[in-house]
Amino acid sequence: MKDLREEILSDIINQKIFAFGKDSSIKLYLVGGHLRNLLMGIDKEDRDYVVEGKGAWNLAKKLASVLNGSFVGLDQERDIARIVIEGRTLDFSGTLGKSIEEDLERRDFTINSIAWSPERGFIDPFHGMKDIEQRIIRAIKKENMSEDPLRLIRAYRFGAELKFDIEPRTSEIITELSYLIPNVSGERISSEFFKILEFPHSFDYIFIASESKVLEAIFPELTPTRDIPPHGKHNLRVFDHSLDVVRCIEVIIPKLPDWVIVHLQEEVSYGISRLSVLKLGGLLHDIGKPLTWKITSNGRHRFIGHGRAGAELIDQISERLKLSKNVIGVLKALVRSHLRPLHLIESVHLDKRILYRSLSYLGQDSVDITVLAMADTLSIGGTEEEKIKKQGLLLEILEDFRSYRIIPRLLTGDDLIKIFNIEQGPQIGKILKALKEAQAIGEVRDKEEAIEYVKRLIY
Ligand code: CTP
Repeated sequence: MKDLREEILSDIINQKIFAFGKDSSIKLYLVGGHLRNLLMGIDKEDRDYVVEGKGAWNLAKKLASVLNGSFVGLDQERDIARIVIEGRTLDFSGTLGKSIEEDLERRDFTINSIAWSPERGFIDPFHGMKDIEQRIIRAIKKENMSEDPLRLIRAYRFGAELKFDIEPRTSEIITELSYLIPNVSGERISSEFFKILEFPHSFDYIFIASESKVLEAIFPELTPTRDIPPHGKHNLRVFDHSLDVVRCIEVIIPKLPDWVIVHLQEEVSYGISRLSVLKLGGLLHDIGKPLTWKITSNGRHRFIGHGRAGAELIDQISERLKLSKNVIGVLKALVRSHLRPLHLIESVHLDKRILYRSLSYLGQDSVDITVLAMADTLSIGGTEEEKIKKQGLLLEILEDFRSYRIIPRLLTGDDLIKIFNIEQGPQIGKILKALKEAQAIGEVRDKEEAIEYVKRLIY
């Protein structure tokens, strides 16, 4: 690990901050993620500074004008303030306890409990630098984890972010304390959980979070799915299949057309991509199964209406985790309609019109739902040949939907008024909608045919 003194002090903001601290006889330390990432050679713009004792609020206020940044007071009583400068955040807080050592002892993981100051260099009482080198997430101690049980989820978030292993004793502590997770506010839980989902290999960490019971502490609705055994083409218990679908989504993503990837990168809500919501949808798509489970006289397992039943449970989850309206909308559509693309490709009566109406009804979410269906089919048993065939048909559905998005407008509302003397009103919208459908299914290809089509429609 290289000496980072020069690197830290070559940064003009650090230079000014530490010089100001020295002139004011304030003991100031760089801590947290920025330091951790510097040690790993990764850039991280946001920083955390700690003032030994108290005085972080006042220091931040003065520094904000020295640095020409904006002061944001976060919590005067707890002595926490922020400076925002050129889009980056610099957080200042007083030490928890009297000294920096006491402060570090109260933090979450060894890799986050390192401090640095120009006078003292690295202060690393828990050997976090060694754990960074060995790529290990290790809790400082059990009490710290129970004091703020969000840290149980943060362990997996840092694991997924840095591709680190969770040290065995830390895993034990997490398992022992997982029952405390419901005490954490929904906003904090969902924010950490969505951070995990944003990483491309989140499945590995969601899987180990399921082994330590953290996953079910967040989503108790998954627990009854453990009772549904493998059946028919399903080689896995519903619980294991639900997790496996997240794995399959991550396997499929790199193979999808670029436009689908661009679509899945869209933000549904601040910092939450469609892809993360898709993975969560994958995890939860079958939560309605236990509620609708029937075994027929010939031993078949049926789950009629499980999509709808699952979507109702999403309301309960969303309320608990304080999910945003946009996230809820996409998540419910995924759970409610996850079988729709499969029904479409298996339908013997499928024609272009049914396909168009079905996908138009689902709107933009058609893409996400179809990718979920791809992952679902990949996870369910069956021959390789069958799976390849289904994947191909589902890809065709995606392409069909894409073609609907670029249907050119052959006639405008004004055209309808001028050419057909139609009065302004809802009829215009209805005609334009019908015309678009006719174009989608290939009945109308140019303006002339569009005029003929409208004539037939209204006369
Ligand atoms: N911290 C903690 N327990 C928490 C939150 C934060 O001990 N529940 C401590 C850790 O030392 C952490 C530091 O506060 O490194 C800063 O917190 P935060 O900004 O949330 O984490 P970072 O490590 O900076 O990483 P990121 O910004 O990516 O979240």
